[in-house]
Amino acid sequence: MAGRISQSFIDELLTRVDIVDIVDARVPLTRAGGGEFKARCPFHDEKTPSFTVSQRKQFYHCFGCGAHGTAIGFLMQYSHMDFPEAVENLAALAGVEVQRESGGRGVIGGGNGDGEAVKARQNLYDAIDEAGKFFRDMLRKHPQAGEAIDYLKGRGLSGQTVANFGIGYAPDGYDNLRSALGGTEEKKQCLITAGLLKKNESGKVYDRFRRRVMFPIVDYRGRVVAFGGRIIGDGKPKYLNSPETAVFSKGAELYGLHRARSKGALQKSRRCLVVEGYMDVVSLAEHGIPNAVATLGTATTDRHLARLFRVVDEVVFCFDGDRAGRAAAWKALQVCLPLLKDAQSASFLLLTGGDDPDTVVRKAGAGEMQKRIAAAKPLPAFLLQHLRESVDLNQLDGPARLAELARPLVARMGQEVLQQVVSDRLAALAGLSAVEMARSLGVGRRTLQRAGAGTVSPGAGTAPPDSGIAPAGAKLSPVARAISMLVQQPALAQLVPADADLRAAGTPGAELLAELVEALRERPKLGTAALVERYRGTANFPHLEKLASWDHLLPDKFEPEFRGILKKLLKTWPRRREIDRLLAKNSADGLSPAEKERLKTLMKAAGKDKAAAGA
Ligand code: UTP
Ligand code: MN
Repeated sequence: MAGRISQSFIDELLTRVDIVDIVDARVPLTRAGGGEFKARCPFHDEKTPSFTVSQRKQFYHCFGCGAHGTAIGFLMQYSHMDFPEAVENLAALAGVEVQRESGGRGVIGGGNGDGEAVKARQNLYDAIDEAGKFFRDMLRKHPQAGEAIDYLKGRGLSGQTVANFGIGYAPDGYDNLRSALGGTEEKKQCLITAGLLKKNESGKVYDRFRRRVMFPIVDYRGRVVAFGGRIIGDGKPKYLNSPETAVFSKGAELYGLHRARSKGALQKSRRCLVVEGYMDVVSLAEHGIPNAVATLGTATTDRHLARLFRVVDEVVFCFDGDRAGRAAAWKALQVCLPLLKDAQSASFLLLTGGDDPDTVVRKAGAGEMQKRIAAAKPLPAFLLQHLRESVDLNQLDGPARLAELARPLVARMGQEVLQQVVSDRLAALAGLSAVEMARSLGVGRRTLQRAGAGTVSPGAGTAPPDSGIAPAGAKLSPVARAISMLVQQPALAQLVPADADLRAAGTPGAELLAELVEALRERPKLGTAALVERYRGTANFPHLEKLASWDHLLPDKFEPEFRGILKKLLKTWPRRREIDRLLAKNSADGLSPAEKERLKTLMKAAGKDKAAAGA
């Protein structure tokens, strides 16, 4: 049974690390006074810094784009770690062992304990696997299979390669798969969950993939988790893919990775090609180039690359040379920067003239393809070329612009050698001295900090975070304001009387406020970050994260307003509710003398309060 990371461990961990160090090691910070630090936001492009880190709250917040979170959140957002990875990293930095609830060390990201969920996942794997067999069977047996076989032959594939990749055939018709494998309601449901069957508005269940050549997508452990289906001949969409499911995420899987690795192709060459299409991978293998994988119609993610760089030292991105392909290559470059460790490298091969790897090997042969791979542009050269094209060096401010564009990229590099190489070449390009350029890129400073950063691996920050935060503070309800103040100044919990029933008001948010106060009674030392982290994975988490960074919308001193809201919650609102209830009862079936007395007292108290408030 996988152990969940224990709550108290996270509380403790967040007191041992300092978010200022964590951020500063990746995004150099400057002091802004009052225990706050500033930088230009790593999550969006900006000229003046609106990214702040609060040492007291152990929280970061960008006024520009709304990015915010704890040290854990920062590693997740900036370095694209998942939650357990971020915790592991902080623990390593703090020099402590991660503690898990069951005592055992769970498999990170593995199935979580719950027997039901594990079984449901297994059923999903089984259903998808069976479907894969079915599609392969159809390629051999179905009366119309000739069209698929002809198609594959027409694309130059041998029967052996087709079998190696487990390629199959989804025949035309709406219920081939359903009638073969959807016999029981449970199985049908499972195939719907897997995205292989679909249900229309009238409740009819039919096959998603029809008249397509089927490419099974295999995960890193060799399980079929999804399919890509290519239409036979012309039609739209050309490729149809399984939707994302509990076992399939496009941002994590690479087509062909399992096969290339299990055949030893990656280990042998220490190099992997990243291409765009299923057919490119299969066709390259057909022509004796087995070390290729494809993204699944999405951008290259850091999860893809982290997976690859565990096996190989060099990744060659092989994309279409058109606009979209160049943009994809530039994006991939940015994702690479923090991931590259010593002796690892990336290079870029952009094919022109409408060619893709498949057409190159078929027209010109594997030798030609190998030649082009060998001539792929190394990352530093590709980066410099891109920057040079974005700046007019004949302009007076050209060199400064060049450094400006390069700075965030250099800051993201996980390799000092790479920083140095790029810095030196930029200097030559801009006509500055190497020292000057290094200084303006902040190369030396980072190097020192990196040494202090322990085992925390740096990461990319290419994707802008969700913005659209920060509606006007005036729109916050009083309870939300109280929660906001409490998470930012946990000491306010002491103002809540021990016997107070915050839930009595029955107001939205009262439950959460009560929970927070209880947590703080139990552990008065909990800080902002630890309080917020307790809610990760719950519906309240995003709200709490925002509320934790909203000090600019609140008064300078929280205490008077907090007391006022407490009074409302504990007295005014429960009283109002009771009055409403008694009045309703009065008009429905009358009140007992005792109830009448009670109502009178309540109304009097309410009147007094109102008068006091009005005075
Ligand atoms: P391409 O259209 O470049 O694919 O799309 P390709 O492999 O060269 O196609 P053919 O078979 O040789 O004509 C590249 C990848 O983009 C995704 C698929 O993953 C495809 O392999 N894609 C493309 C889709 O998901 N849907 C589409 O409609 C098209
Ligand atoms: Mn193609």
